[in-house]
Amino acid sequence: MNGPSVVQRLLDKTPLIAPSMLKCDFANLHREVALLERAEAPLLHFDVMDGHFVPNLSYGAMLIRSLRSLTDIPFEAHLMISEPDRYLPDFLDAGCDLVTFHIEAVPDPLPLLRRIRKAGAAAGLALNPGTPVEAIEPVLAECDLVLVMSVQPGFGGQAFLPAALDKLRHLKRLIGPETLLSVDGGIGPDTISSTADAGACHFVVGSAIFDTADYREAIERLQLAAASAAVSARSPTE
Ligand code: DX5
Ligand code: ZN
Repeated sequence: MNGPSVVQRLLDKTPLIAPSMLKCDFANLHREVALLERAEAPLLHFDVMDGHFVPNLSYGAMLIRSLRSLTDIPFEAHLMISEPDRYLPDFLDAGCDLVTFHIEAVPDPLPLLRRIRKAGAAAGLALNPGTPVEAIEPVLAECDLVLVMSVQPGFGGQAFLPAALDKLRHLKRLIGPETLLSVDGGIGPDTISSTADAGACHFVVGSAIFDTADYREAIERLQLAAASAAVSARSPTE
């Protein structure tokens, strides 16, 4: 496990479509992972909820650990929990390659970002729809990934909040090319292009993959849409 090299490998594969395991079939986890391998998902996104930071419960490090031996796909934990520092060792031990926590959950994100990197994982910082970019600006250099929530965290299947677009544009201007810019919530065929155009290169997708019959096709389509939006964003005259 090596933080920067995982990020480097992921940067080479952008746009990244990260299936949100919150929306998968929990009665068939083994099968879901196999299907996502076949679909060539570049990483798996695990939404961890504690019923306190967000009004929902999901799963924790034990479940992630139990899936780790099934695949070599990088794992990303999205911690929607209070006291992420308390539980960090569990997620590192479970084999998470990236760990993202929320700025709203900690008094100072710096020590935790550094702990994650020191442990050899990649460090991500997430911000809720109501949190301004300025809240994380001082620590952007310490982040391998910045995640913009485009829904209120807690549940899959919600409608995309367009205010996330300005935030992505703002962050894109502030971060370096070695930082992944991620968007999470309500991403699907109708919304992915605008987020790619705004600078996102990492897209967390639940419903628009797991509510379809063919994960591979869903991922490929989303990836294509994101790639062509990113290309036209770089050449606006086309
Ligand atoms: C919401 C989670 C998301 C969510 C995505 O709190 O962070 O990852 O499961 O699901 P969709 O794509 O259905 O919005
Ligand atoms: Zn998430």
